[in-house]
Amino acid sequence: MTRNIAVVIDILISMILYSPTIVVYCKLLDRFYLPSSLTGPKSLAFDSIGGGPYTGVSDGRILKFDQECSCFLEFAHISPERNNTLCGGISDFSELQETCGRPMGLSFDYNTGELYIADAYYGLVKVPFDGGAATQLVANGVLGNPFGFLAGVDVDPQTGIVYFTEASSRYKIRDHDKLLNSTDYSGNLFRYDPKTNETTVLLSYLTVAAGVAVSNNGSFVLVSEYMANRIRRVWLTGPNAYTSEIFLHLPGRPDSIKRNSRNEFWVAVNYPFGSPPPPVPPVLPLGLRVNEEGLILEAVPLVEEFSTESVSEIQEADGKLYATSLRVSYVNILNH
Ligand SMILES: *[C@@H]1O[C@H](CO)[C@@H](O)[C@H](O)[C@H]1NC(C)=O
Ligand SMILES: *[C@@H]1O[C@H](CO)[C@@H](O)[C@H](O)[C@H]1NC(C)=O
Ligand SMILES: *[C@@H]1O[C@H](CO)[C@@H](O)[C@H](O)[C@H]1NC(C)=O
Ligand SMILES: *[C@@H]1O[C@H](CO)[C@@H](O)[C@H](O)[C@H]1NC(C)=O
Repeated sequence: MTRNIAVVIDILISMILYSPTIVVYCKLLDRFYLPSSLTGPKSLAFDSIGGGPYTGVSDGRILKFDQECSCFLEFAHISPERNNTLCGGISDFSELQETCGRPMGLSFDYNTGELYIADAYYGLVKVPFDGGAATQLVANGVLGNPFGFLAGVDVDPQTGIVYFTEASSRYKIRDHDKLLNSTDYSGNLFRYDPKTNETTVLLSYLTVAAGVAVSNNGSFVLVSEYMANRIRRVWLTGPNAYTSEIFLHLPGRPDSIKRNSRNEFWVAVNYPFGSPPPPVPPVLPLGLRVNEEGLILEAVPLVEEFSTESVSEIQEADGKLYATSLRVSYVNILNH
């Protein structure tokens, strides 16, 4: 592990010195706290009029940040017959999440207003524009292989086609410690077409397929492989359609990938899980802004915002950066 860290630091330093990377220190502007006892705002989404952020939390609900009360309010829930006495307030990695749901990735279809959710136990689900109970779309796996757990989702803004990832098909999220300690290559990238309800496999044998993002015009989709410190690209159109390549090697573990309005991507990058305390000064976690050619344009250190916690996602909205973590109970908002 110590060697890993040394390698990480070497790569990071050479990246900063020898590439056009710009290290940008951003100021923490605000922190949106979850209601007490809830944790793990893994992913954020904003609706078509900029409302939100919306986030999925440990007790199986989707919450929406309300500007008036400056607090998170319930928007939707994963389990159709949710029992609030049983589910309300449960913490992350509880066995009860199998009953109550554990929303991970979120992505709106701005044409229909529907919110798609990759749930760790309920599979691919969606919620109508006005919230309420989620509907299961792909619950029991693909081609007869039951899901381990889903992690990321992104909707093609033009076609409404949904791309989603299964982090691992062998482990459940409650066993994520074991997963991150393993050499699991059972992750998958899927494509769901809402017009036909068909799901197809785009890429298999991924090592913890954490995040996914489709390009603005649907020409390719990116998938992060957390345990391999890299992002893969699958071409969807053109002469190379349905072939894949390595898009980017990273100086640490990549989690979510989020597209911004300029067709670039933000990637959350972390220290390897369970590694010894980071060196001083720590250089990870980071948010990296990357263009469509795989060039790193900007590196935003998130050390002070998350200290030793990992960062699950970073994205841009209304000129600010929103950063979240599966291991904290708040959302960080930074100037940018
Ligand atoms: C909800 O859960 C509680 C606690 O487990 C249980 O006592 C109650 O019967 C459940 N309610 C329903 C309607 O299933
Ligand atoms: C991870 O692996 C190490 C070494 O093999 C072991 O000591 C540790 O208990 C494992 N942790 C978990 C959560 O399985
Ligand atoms: C897709 O599934 C929905 C239910 O989730 C159903 O209403 C619809 O008719 C299905 N469409 C097709 C083309 O099978
Ligand atoms: C998609 O956009 C990229 C630039 O962002 C462009 O190079 C490519 O030709 C476009 N592809 C299609 C199929 O429109």
